[in-house]
Amino acid sequence: MPERIGLLVGMENSFPPAFIERVNRESSSTGVVAELAKIGETRAEDWQSPYRVLIDRISQEIPHYRFHLKAAALSGTYVINDPFWWSADDKFFGYSLASKLGVAVPRTVMLPQKDYMHRIDKSRSLRNLEFPLDWEAITKYVGFPAILKPADGGGWRDVYVVKNFEELMRAYDSSAQLVMTLQEFIDFDEYIRCICIGREAILPIKYDPKRRCYVVTPGGFMSKELEAKVREGAFKICDALGYDMNSVEFAVRDGIPYAIDFTNPAPDMAKESVLEPHFSWCVEEMAKFTIKVARDGRSSLGEHYRFSRYLPPHLRATTPGDQPKIAVGGSK
Ligand SMILES: Nc1ncnc2c1ncn2[C@@H]1O[C@H](COP(=O)(O)OP(=O)(O)O)[C@@H](O)[C@H]1O
Ligand SMILES: [Mg+2]
Repeated sequence: MPERIGLLVGMENSFPPAFIERVNRESSSTGVVAELAKIGETRAEDWQSPYRVLIDRISQEIPHYRFHLKAAALSGTYVINDPFWWSADDKFFGYSLASKLGVAVPRTVMLPQKDYMHRIDKSRSLRNLEFPLDWEAITKYVGFPAILKPADGGGWRDVYVVKNFEELMRAYDSSAQLVMTLQEFIDFDEYIRCICIGREAILPIKYDPKRRCYVVTPGGFMSKELEAKVREGAFKICDALGYDMNSVEFAVRDGIPYAIDFTNPAPDMAKESVLEPHFSWCVEEMAKFTIKVARDGRSSLGEHYRFSRYLPPHLRATTPGDQPKIAVGGSK
């Protein structure tokens, strides 16, 4: 029986068929096949996912898939990306972690929500909150212009550039129940998005945030020194978060790459947005990595999940590469 790789997707229509075709082209020599995963009911007892590897590109929008993937991981499937960690992750944690890894991040402050679900009685339920906030200290630390954006967001939703206190208040007042961060605006000379696969393969691509598109640069676009910093930062972030598929954005100011957006466990890999030759790189690296994973028998359940110590040994095989590969520390 071949090992099966299942792909969970939303509307995207270029990466899935290209990936499946690429994996299946080699099936006779690798013993691995790929297909769109089919998911129906999931049983709690004696259930085994038919997939050796599941690649999740959509569970952020379909909670049922996320729950299914956690059960699949428990049955021995290697899930990309780890559904347990993805459920726990948020952007603000990412900034806090990156700064501890010695990766430069903009000065960032998380704010209490402006508003709350209707069950919350503001006069009785919010006793833990400091009120009013010390806006003077916050804005002095971050400075203007600043970016106000969700502490856990995506797709440029609810991202504001605020030039002064009045603009900040207007944007904050409209943020409703979102948890927002106020962040130093990095007036960048260069903007880079790295697509990162298998915590090893990293493709830094020039990105134009004004036009919101990737840019093809046949002759390269970075100095060797900058590229080394970008690669090291992207690698540390993906290895620390444990994401096998991610995109990591840097804004470069005065030669320093600041990590801006790097918790993207279902990164855009559409041909029309990442463009060639980047698209073919994504297909090739995803295929190589997932075929390797399908064959080496690894599980998603490292010892860091307490429940894994109660599982049979073959289910709690730690992921190869669980040890940190780069010494961390330092600050920006
Ligand atoms: N601190 C910042 N400095 C400069 N530009 C920023 C900053 N934060 C966000 N941006 C701009 O806003 C865009 C969207 O913000 P981002 O953090 O990437 O959120 P999303 O997850 O919605 O993509 C970025 O691509 C970048 O162009
Ligand atoms: Mg972004």
